Amino acid sequence: MLVLGIETSCDETAFAVVEDGRRVLSNAVASQADVHARFGGVVPEIASRAHLEELTPTYRRALADAGVTMGDVGAIAVTRGPGLAGCLLTGVEYAKGLALRFAKPLASVHHVAGHLVSTELGREMNAWGEPVAGDRAPWVPYMALAASGGHTSLVHVRGPLEYEIIGQTLDDAAGEAYDKAAKLLGLGYPGGPVMDRLAAQGDPGAYDLPRPVMGKAGSNFSFSGLKTAVSLLVRDVARGEPTPEFQRDAAASFQAAVIDVLLAKAARAIEEAGTGRFALVGGVASNRGLRAAAAERLAGIEIGIPPTEFCTDNAAMIAALGWHVIGTVGPSTLGLNAAPSLSMEDVDRWK
Ligand code: KG4
Ligand code: ZN
Repeated sequence: MLVLGIETSCDETAFAVVEDGRRVLSNAVASQADVHARFGGVVPEIASRAHLEELTPTYRRALADAGVTMGDVGAIAVTRGPGLAGCLLTGVEYAKGLALRFAKPLASVHHVAGHLVSTELGREMNAWGEPVAGDRAPWVPYMALAASGGHTSLVHVRGPLEYEIIGQTLDDAAGEAYDKAAKLLGLGYPGGPVMDRLAAQGDPGAYDLPRPVMGKAGSNFSFSGLKTAVSLLVRDVARGEPTPEFQRDAAASFQAAVIDVLLAKAARAIEEAGTGRFALVGGVASNRGLRAAAAERLAGIEIGIPPTEFCTDNAAMIAALGWHVIGTVGPSTLGLNAAPSLSMEDVDRWK
């Protein structure tokens, strides 16, 4: 079955066509990063308006790229939450309009749970190297780290659509920390990609930055202290004027601290859960340093990391999970509402 996925929870307007939860026929993403760059972060009101402009062109592009029409599509999946209320609303209403117009079932999807299946995308094998056969390959159980601009969560995925949240960030998300550190260093928005590039050229041992909560029990994260440490470096070492060499070394030192914390907490959660599988997903999973370090430090664990185009926000992951939702939870009615703080664990309430 082909599922049309729709994602508008933050600053990407995205549509995708995915077959049977895995084979990606198209993945159209209109990013608003340029629109928000001059403000140094996402401005919700501007984001909702930009979605309204991008929805129809992106929808048409996804169908055209896949070479299909709505007649070929079996269901429509949309991100219901969590995310920015006004942004979610544009996608949910658009999805309901299409569902009504073309008489298709509607699947309601949790955004972060969407990230958790992104390792399945674009593969003939599933994330664990098993050939995809029948309608449901065994893609569970696994531990997942979803690290993005809005979330940093360790989740034990015990079965299809069975989630146990093991740990979350107490303050900033990992991607948010990248964005804030980049801003302090005078490097534009979004900060992740440019910090990633500079970190590869700098000395990770140049500055001894804190590893917040790394040694503490529990699986929660905290990144705001790291941001403060970067601001002190900028003030005291760079004297308010970061040079290119300082930017490279500070980016590398910052990245080393983030990687240490993320992977130490992940390793502990994997061990405590007694699982042999780990999925690294979300915008921060496109970080080259983190991808390499995960492979190196989690030896003996089967690791699933999506191609970078499926790490940052996209609708292919929403379509993929929507396919599981249709088969398990069932379709939603046209009374579906956006839910800005939708909980992941209570799957029945997604509907
Ligand atoms: O998953 P995503 O597209 O959106 C949310 O759901 O938040 O993640 C975006 C976040 C941004 O904070 C961005 O700076 C970060 O992911 N990011 C990166 C990289 N690429 C994107 N962080 C570190 N390294 C990267 N290469
Ligand atoms: Zn996301």
